[in-house]
Amino acid sequence: MADGRTTVLLSVLMFAAAAAFVEELNDSFMETKGDDEIWLIKFYAPWCTFCKQLDPVWHQIGSELRSLGSPVHVGKSDATANTGLAKEFRVRTYPAILMLKKNIKYNYSGARTKDGIMDFANRIAGPLVRSLSSLQLFQHAMSRHDVMFVYVGATSPLKGNYTSVAEQLIVHTYFFSASRDVLPKAVSLSTLPAVVVFKDGTYFTYREERDGDLKSWINRERFPNFSQIDSYTLYAMGETGKLVLLALVEEKHLGEESLRYKSLVESVAAEHRESYSRDMYFGFMAGSDYISGLVMGEIIVPSFIVVNLSNDGYFLPPGTVQTEHNLLDFLDGVLNGSVQGHGGNGAFQRVRRLVYDTRVTLAARPAVVNEDGTPLLTPLLGSHKKTSKKKSD
Ligand SMILES: *[C@@H]1O[C@H](CO)[C@@H](O)[C@H](O)[C@H]1NC(C)=O
Ligand SMILES: *[C@@H]1O[C@H](CO)[C@@H](O)[C@H](O)[C@H]1NC(C)=O
Repeated sequence: MADGRTTVLLSVLMFAAAAAFVEELNDSFMETKGDDEIWLIKFYAPWCTFCKQLDPVWHQIGSELRSLGSPVHVGKSDATANTGLAKEFRVRTYPAILMLKKNIKYNYSGARTKDGIMDFANRIAGPLVRSLSSLQLFQHAMSRHDVMFVYVGATSPLKGNYTSVAEQLIVHTYFFSASRDVLPKAVSLSTLPAVVVFKDGTYFTYREERDGDLKSWINRERFPNFSQIDSYTLYAMGETGKLVLLALVEEKHLGEESLRYKSLVESVAAEHRESYSRDMYFGFMAGSDYISGLVMGEIIVPSFIVVNLSNDGYFLPPGTVQTEHNLLDFLDGVLNGSVQGHGGNGAFQRVRRLVYDTRVTLAARPAVVNEDGTPLLTPLLGSHKKTSKKKSD
């Protein structure tokens, strides 16, 4: 039995061991680090609650990456003390999570969960374009990714474009390549080389004349057509320029009505993909807090709402939505302009936002660090920097 003192000693030792997986970085970091080192770094401020909440997760990430033999070093830095380093990484909000590889900085803007951050670290640390050399590897990758971009064919100018898009969008998604014979026979490609996205149980081939430039297409198609959407995903979807139709449902146990709303959206997404997928994503969101923050008013659950993340605008169904037909009418109305939009980021709306944000207790948005000047990150939504609302703070 461990007595009190042993317990204290043990916790001290355990803490020391855990701490060793995460290095505290100061302003001399850029001079002292090795050229080929890959780093995952959290910038924090001593007063920031969300930073503190992330501490145990950060230690776990450090320890797991170490035990997995990952080449990724894990560090953290007090941005208020090491202002030089924070400036170098263009830290603007806390906590900011970034990776450094070959002197390129990658900004993480997803959910601050262990899995989300580990996935990001592994993605950046690995090859830009991952080659799938067998059907088994292809199937394994398929089982792990809801949305999968694959370049099919030999080296070509298109491959060059694909690789350069991968450099810019690797923060968001994985990029694969394979030769034709690796893909299942059922996949039919009329010409090679090709860029294909596998998602929603099917696949789509990129066509420049129809889809525009490759980067925009990949950026538009990098989400499943229908999915559960959290505030981070919704924010990221804004970069695709598409509208999002949401069923807002209860946070935990879904009542009958919520299930009906959710399945209406799901069936419209599946059955009318052809008509809407260019303009719209579909999904459901648990809880209405985030959307209430966006529309600056209470939204009841369940509800349907179409949001335009490009301008913070939104649309509510003019009447009750009982049938799929009603929902389609609503979507068509949004697209043809007959349904009145709300919100948007005009001057009046910006003042309302300021007042609303001041009233509601708000926490920092997912870290937004623009890499101005480097072409390596997608620009964040231009006009608005929304603040994600967390109940806990
Ligand atoms: C590569 O990208 C450039 C610039 O966007 C474009 O003009 C060209 O057609 C693309 N080439 C291929 C093969 O997709
Ligand atoms: C969404 O916002 C963008 C940017 O303001 C705008 O160009 C577009 O027309 C909007 N879409 C709808 C359906 O209102």
